[in-house]
Amino acid sequence: MTTRFDQHITEVLIPQEAIARRVAAMGEEVSAAFENSCPLLVGVLKGSALFMADLVRHMKIPLEMDFMAVASYADQEQRVSSGAARITKDLDNVIEGRDVLLVEGIVDTGMTVGYLLRSLEARQPRSIRLCTLLDKPARRIVQVPIAFRGFEIPDRFVVGYGLDFRRLYRNLPYIGVLSGEATGLNRS
Ligand code: IMP
Ligand code: MG
Repeated sequence: MTTRFDQHITEVLIPQEAIARRVAAMGEEVSAAFENSCPLLVGVLKGSALFMADLVRHMKIPLEMDFMAVASYADQEQRVSSGAARITKDLDNVIEGRDVLLVEGIVDTGMTVGYLLRSLEARQPRSIRLCTLLDKPARRIVQVPIAFRGFEIPDRFVVGYGLDFRRLYRNLPYIGVLSGEATGLNRS
């Protein structure tokens, strides 16, 4: 007998339909904000991949896409932060003079996007704004300006719709909470 890959999901925090509705609305919102421009959307791999793919399908303006990856400070399983981040995949595009939208799956401590925003700002884009599907403000360390936010969530470790725990669960179509048994987290 095979094991259900989602057997450790104890709660669906954001159902698939709610994500779809919100992402569609965000697509409209972001399109309106970039009406007279051709923005470069920069997705942060790998967590934003599903969000980015759905978001752009709801955008009705010309745009370009690029991706970056960071080895983040975080040993997420232990929720330890050392403050260090490193770009492991950089942009293919020059962003000087461009309107840039950084697209993230989740902002937690803010250290990852804080680092990325600093790095991108140094390249002198015309503007840079941050769009995140999820915002977990309870654990914020670095204050980052979020221009477009999908959902504010409580301080729980969530997976699905691009977000992983030890590289798994990204393909869940909803945002769910993993059992503390599976993660050693969310014990409260
Ligand atoms: P930061 O703490 O804002 O720098 O977030 C760093 C990264 O940790 C995010 O880009 C995610 O990859 C990951 N992360 C933070 N919270 C969660 C969560 O609840 N589930 C899955 N990944 C998370
Ligand atoms: Mg991860």
